Amino acid sequence: MSNHTTIWENARIATMQTGTGPYGLIDDGFIVVAGEQIQDIGSANPVHPIAGDVDSRRIDCGGRLITPGLIDCHTHLVYGGNRASEFELRLTGTSYADIAAAGGGIQSTVQATRNEAEDVLFDAARERLQRMISQGITTVEIKSGYGLDTDTESKMLRIAQRLERDLPLCVHKTFLGAHALPPEYAGQPDNYIDHVCQHMLPAIASESLVDSVDAFCETIAFSNEQTRRVFTAASDLGLPVRLHADQLSDSGGASLAAEFAALSADHLEYTNAAGAKTLGAAGTVAVLLPGAFYYLGETTRPPVKAFREYGVDIAVATDMNPGSSPMESILLALNMACILFALTPEEALRGVTVAAARALGVLQDRGTLEPTKRADFAIWNAAEPAELCYPIGAPQPACVVKSGQVLTGHLS
Ligand code: NIG
Ligand code: FE
Repeated sequence: MSNHTTIWENARIATMQTGTGPYGLIDDGFIVVAGEQIQDIGSANPVHPIAGDVDSRRIDCGGRLITPGLIDCHTHLVYGGNRASEFELRLTGTSYADIAAAGGGIQSTVQATRNEAEDVLFDAARERLQRMISQGITTVEIKSGYGLDTDTESKMLRIAQRLERDLPLCVHKTFLGAHALPPEYAGQPDNYIDHVCQHMLPAIASESLVDSVDAFCETIAFSNEQTRRVFTAASDLGLPVRLHADQLSDSGGASLAAEFAALSADHLEYTNAAGAKTLGAAGTVAVLLPGAFYYLGETTRPPVKAFREYGVDIAVATDMNPGSSPMESILLALNMACILFALTPEEALRGVTVAAARALGVLQDRGTLEPTKRADFAIWNAAEPAELCYPIGAPQPACVVKSGQVLTGHLS
């Protein structure tokens, strides 16, 4: 690590540390960054010059607000094609589930993703990710699930890995082989799940392309029993799990995720109070995806009150994907989480920082601003944290810092 030290001073800092008042706010604050890490954080100016450091510089933040780098903990941002024609169908009365049953939906993106060259997919995903970084994202989760064969699933996750190397941000790679039934296995879902568990997952995990394993447990996808087999295979490989749960019906997905101490259970519109209680007891994070709720015209809301009652940590993410949530903006997701799901702005902001970090298992390194954590933060032309949630799509941050380096923007 370089001994280069930067002092970001004259800032209002939403550290998002718990137990330190709303948003963990520090007024007239400073952050001392050494190399990639936060060395010190506090109020008023640190002793200066910093002892023994010949190479320190100070940056005046002009009283702006600093938040942790935002974390989008649920995306499907590597994919081919688009689903505009299905959008038209939906608006003339065909439902998302009907389109899926007729071989469209996820299947149509699978065909497009299989047929597209790796470099073309990479370039498209890179452009999406750059727009997301400009909104303050410094960590993103990316799922496979539009391949449904070993080659294409591993192609998608290789792209996620290349994105992390090419763009200076953290990428969490999730294997979602059990997203839909591929056409080769039509009518044989159990055989496909066997293939996922015995061949695809071990092969892809052996290439170090998997940080966690997801599945779509739903009437139009896989049953509890099939999901359980995928989770058992993941656990046998020492991989944590997460679940697309109770999105379109109450399938008992939340309880199943809790049973496996999943990192997260996501969507949860149809989760009942008993399911919420199991999430709380297991410490599984509830990831709310207001973009998909909005885009599918859902009316049943996730049980936010029960989550609060049972101490379930609530994260918020874009679910960026071409079918149910073609939305890149984490800032719009913040606003939607407040308006559609009645989260408070503080809960919503926790949802894209500290709770999102927990959902990815990286809270020890990211998600709050405190000494020894990675120096990932966004600097906003704002004074109050609620300004990030209150407009319909907040203004972009003035500057995004990742591992101590300015990723985008400048302060002037
Ligand atoms: O999170 N629910 C399943 N998977 C995605 C949708 C994927 C798609 O429609 O392409 C979701 O909503
Ligand atoms: Fe999703």
